[in-house]
Amino acid sequence: MSTPRVLRTAAALSEAITDALTAKADGGTGGAGGPAPSLGLVPTMGALHQGHRALVDAARAANDVVVASVFVNPLQFNDSEDLHRYPRTLEADLELLGDAGADLVFAPSEAEVYPDGPPLVRIHSGELGSRYEGRFRPGHFDGVLTVVAKLLHYAQPTLPARYRAYFGQKDAQQLALIRRMVMDLDFRAEIVGVPVVRGTDGLAESSRNVFLDAEHRRAATVLPQALFALQDQARTGLPLDLAAAVARVQAEPHVDLDYFDIVDPQTLQPLATDGQPLRRPALALLAARVGPVRLIDNLPLEPAAD
Ligand code: PAF
Repeated sequence: MSTPRVLRTAAALSEAITDALTAKADGGTGGAGGPAPSLGLVPTMGALHQGHRALVDAARAANDVVVASVFVNPLQFNDSEDLHRYPRTLEADLELLGDAGADLVFAPSEAEVYPDGPPLVRIHSGELGSRYEGRFRPGHFDGVLTVVAKLLHYAQPTLPARYRAYFGQKDAQQLALIRRMVMDLDFRAEIVGVPVVRGTDGLAESSRNVFLDAEHRRAATVLPQALFALQDQARTGLPLDLAAAVARVQAEPHVDLDYFDIVDPQTLQPLATDGQPLRRPALALLAARVGPVRLIDNLPLEPAAD
């Protein structure tokens, strides 16, 4: 394991990326006529777990240079208490990132990213950002898109290079919005979605899981169970029973369901699937409060092969 180099300013990050890509280009991958070197960016808010590890692994497998960022973005928190209690574990994060083979880590201060305080101009997440999570967390996705736009700019290679950025499929709405932002606003980065990582009990990895005690963690497993039941119905050509999946979650006393729907994976528009076998790829997505924690989860649904 090698310890990644930590950069605190956008200028230092850009220089380090240029040096690392130049070294790769000089080392053979980007010589005259050869393929351009590649950069993989993994934006995170720290408190890293196996879900983040999967992002870095995917970036490491496909790119010459891997950069992870660790920045708890105040703009995307709806209440200051949640921001305050968000776990900050930079030392352990650096260990995981070194172990996963990240080359560089960008860990800026808030003043570096927002030197004049909260920005007056932000990326507006539009209608797609107002549904589902957006309804429960107004402004959240504007904050996410604004910081992701900044991070994509900071890490933008200054020499010819392939540029990819990695995000978890667990935050399905965030991923859909980032794809739209990159497409609508002509960002150069290619966005790569990485599948959800689950514990042995099926619960999706999340930085917030540390706040679940044993009883709440057990209760929370009803969420993946309900999603997997729908996935089985889809795969085997049975009619999708969303109402039964909802009832199953609602029967768990420690779980308070915010939403549970079957949607188009790109637009997150609800699909009318009631009582029908699934005819096209879809996404089942939900959010619930379990004790002190709000959890989100989702699972792709594939129709039965003909
Ligand atoms: O998914 C996250 O951890 C954050 O929303 C992101 C993309 C790093 C932006 O702060």
